[in-house]
Amino acid sequence: MPHSISTEATFTFELLPSDIRESSQIGAQVSLPEDAPILHIDEISEANKDVLRQALFENQVIVIRNQQGIDPTTLPKLAKVFDPAASDIHSAGVKAVSNPKDILSAYKAGRLPRAPQVGIIGSGTFKDYEGIPELDVIHLDHTTFHERPLSQEELDQGYTRPYRWHMDAPLYERYPGEATILHCIKMPKLPDQKLKFPDGKEKTIAAGATAFFSGARAFEMLSDDEKEFALNTTVTYAPQAYEYIRHCKSTEDGLSIPTMGRETALEDLSEWSWDKVAEYPMVWPNPRDATRPHLQFHGCCAYKLTTRNPATGEVAVVDDVAEVRRVCYALQKRIWAAENIYAHRWQEGDLVIFHNKGVMHSITGQLAQYREDEEKKRLLWQCTMGSAEAPKAFRP
Ligand SMILES: [Fe+2]
Repeated sequence: MPHSISTEATFTFELLPSDIRESSQIGAQVSLPEDAPILHIDEISEANKDVLRQALFENQVIVIRNQQGIDPTTLPKLAKVFDPAASDIHSAGVKAVSNPKDILSAYKAGRLPRAPQVGIIGSGTFKDYEGIPELDVIHLDHTTFHERPLSQEELDQGYTRPYRWHMDAPLYERYPGEATILHCIKMPKLPDQKLKFPDGKEKTIAAGATAFFSGARAFEMLSDDEKEFALNTTVTYAPQAYEYIRHCKSTEDGLSIPTMGRETALEDLSEWSWDKVAEYPMVWPNPRDATRPHLQFHGCCAYKLTTRNPATGEVAVVDDVAEVRRVCYALQKRIWAAENIYAHRWQEGDLVIFHNKGVMHSITGQLAQYREDEEKKRLLWQCTMGSAEAPKAFRP
């Protein structure tokens, strides 16, 4: 049977330049055909969906430029290209998080009336946006979460830090989604900022860049013994994990919590039960490459580790939270090097899709000081819908 035009892929992708990718294993740009430059989900052929899946699962973060005017209902439908069984609910719940006990409420994220699965994040106050009379969104930065934030002098010199590395997941009750989709409406016009790394290197990034590292790259950097440990280990997260850590402070890289003592007592958390506590393997599979394991865990929220020896069936448990954090941090912290970090330099109109179950990401930048300045406000749409199932183990 001859191929009809509609079954042939017209989308193409190419890797971002090697001086941007460095060793991160992250980043590709997808190009749409000239006669259909804005993504219309109902018009994407199966062949083009396959191009998107290949681009994403091989490169973990993909960008489609110049999507100004895209219909917001496209985002949740697009998420299902990567996760057909995704729930039709934002992974933070039907409404944006507003419970003051939950630190995820601090972003004051809104939701688009035209597509309730799409959140609105950014920095600044917006009037009459998308039918919302007044929207006030907060760009959190590391000074509110790090135990030893940058000094005023360093901030004045343009340094910033990753706020907190995470996957988009409430880490309680609902599951993380396979892909998160972001669409840039407005980016502040501000000078670049800089990240500093433990080896003395620095990386220049755009103000308000979203930073990513690959769980596949993080796994590769482990020793053979560490790989074996990670493959056999399950991470149990704290009950109501983001309430549990809401007064905690992090390490300078935003990966871990170095000091015990500020955790919320379990009896002071919102109502919870063990059956809803998140318990995920430490290493997750890549949906398109069975040989590519991703080290995926949230070091700040980890509570207990359970390691099963596959030969003997013997089970070892670490349930001292300080020790759990130490073990997690030891596995993850070497990824924090300039060459392993991809920091997306936003352009207005960008549609960025990232493999939420294959990378960790973080806010960077110090934007809150500019929130009143029209030229320096930031606005993004964000669509992250929970998967129907818990993440599977790379090694079942
Ligand atoms: Fe996020």
